[in-house]
Amino acid sequence: MEEIIVTGGYPLTGSVGVLGAKNAALKQMVAMLLAPGTHLLGNVPGILDVALMGRVLEHIGAVCSFAGNELTVEVPDELRPEAPLDLVRQMRASIVVLGPLLARGGVARVAFPGGDDLGARPIDMHLDGLRRMGAEFELEHGVLIARAPGGLKGAEVSLEFPSVGATENVLLGAVLANGETTLHNAAREPEIEDLVAFLVKMGARIRGAGTSLITVEGVEALKPGAHTVLPDRLEAGTYAVAAAITGGEVRVEQCVPDHLRMELRKLTEAGCMVDFGEDWFSVLGPDRPSPVDFATLPFPGFHTDMQPQMVALLSVASGTSVITENIYDARFRYAGELMRMGADITTEWQHAVIRGVEKLSGCPVIAPDIRAGASLVLAGLRAEGQTAVGEVHHIDRGYEDFVGRLQSLGGHLERRPVGAAS
Ligand code: UD1
Repeated sequence: MEEIIVTGGYPLTGSVGVLGAKNAALKQMVAMLLAPGTHLLGNVPGILDVALMGRVLEHIGAVCSFAGNELTVEVPDELRPEAPLDLVRQMRASIVVLGPLLARGGVARVAFPGGDDLGARPIDMHLDGLRRMGAEFELEHGVLIARAPGGLKGAEVSLEFPSVGATENVLLGAVLANGETTLHNAAREPEIEDLVAFLVKMGARIRGAGTSLITVEGVEALKPGAHTVLPDRLEAGTYAVAAAITGGEVRVEQCVPDHLRMELRKLTEAGCMVDFGEDWFSVLGPDRPSPVDFATLPFPGFHTDMQPQMVALLSVASGTSVITENIYDARFRYAGELMRMGADITTEWQHAVIRGVEKLSGCPVIAPDIRAGASLVLAGLRAEGQTAVGEVHHIDRGYEDFVGRLQSLGGHLERRPVGAAS
């Protein structure tokens, strides 16, 4: 068990490059199951979730090797179509194996994912979409048994909400289905566009990625793919807030500022000076941020996965901010940890009222999930004295060498075994 010890009060300066997007890489790894042979993925972040998805693929029969942010995956002809509970529990994204396993062999056994720190997180839309394509589901002893006796067939699918995971599951089933699938109210996230770019390289026929109407013409077979994962907008956004909260100046490189349009706009409203080019942006933080209201929404709205970092920033604002969380029903659970550091936050159902305080004061806190963990480290960079962030494996799920990168920007922090003397 390790913790991150942060000493606050040092503005971050310099430049940092971001790696490939976690939420794109994970789904592209699953997409590989659609075609036997050797697949290659570049710009893959060295994070825990990629290792976990590698274990899911290996359980199914693939062989993965990872070196220098390149991932090679050999997919066999015959798959073992299952994802066990210990892996699904650790990473809910494993549920997207349903589509490709059904498409390849007409059967899948996947442990039913429970809720997590962000709320109940049902998968009804995933199942509904695949059902329309001919799949049948039964829940036996906590395992979802999926069958498509006559193979998956093209269908009209209309999502109740533009769910990222449901869009991906339907897409991954539809590419090898018999006939055409039209997906209405599809998620428009850049990670979906990148998944489609990879699938097209594998021979899939897809139109409309990045819009809410995606059309897939099923093909008989796909070939192995090679692709470079798009930059991680959440990693980029986290470094943007790190600059903002410390009153520093950071240039974030190898990223797509256009994918963070709303988040950068809110940072500007908070008093940051933001400049950008095609694949970089820079943030100059104010001495004290101004209060800002925002609501999380599907892309191109404010990303829910940037909400905790922004709340850390607004906790030291010169006034009161009101945040509405529209994606998850329990995403403010981390607020109590920020309050231990002196933040003044009231949460009620999907709203949080953040009354900015003049200073935070360092203390031991626990990272409850990936982004809240990052936000507590950012709060520690601003706080007086030392903050010890525990349960750092959550941060490792989404950030490669988070501590090293913040150190390279002048942050005073280190990682050490829990309880070790400094
Ligand atoms: C993905 C991202 C996650 C991000 C989220 C929203 C990955 C690995 N994770 O998660 O980081 O926060 O998109 O941008 O890519 N829902 C249902 N029924 C369903 C499916 C979803 O009710 O069948 C609900 C969920 O509980 C949640 C909301 O819809 O409240 C959004 O979920 P979704 O867009 O599916 O997110 P994920 O794909 O799980």
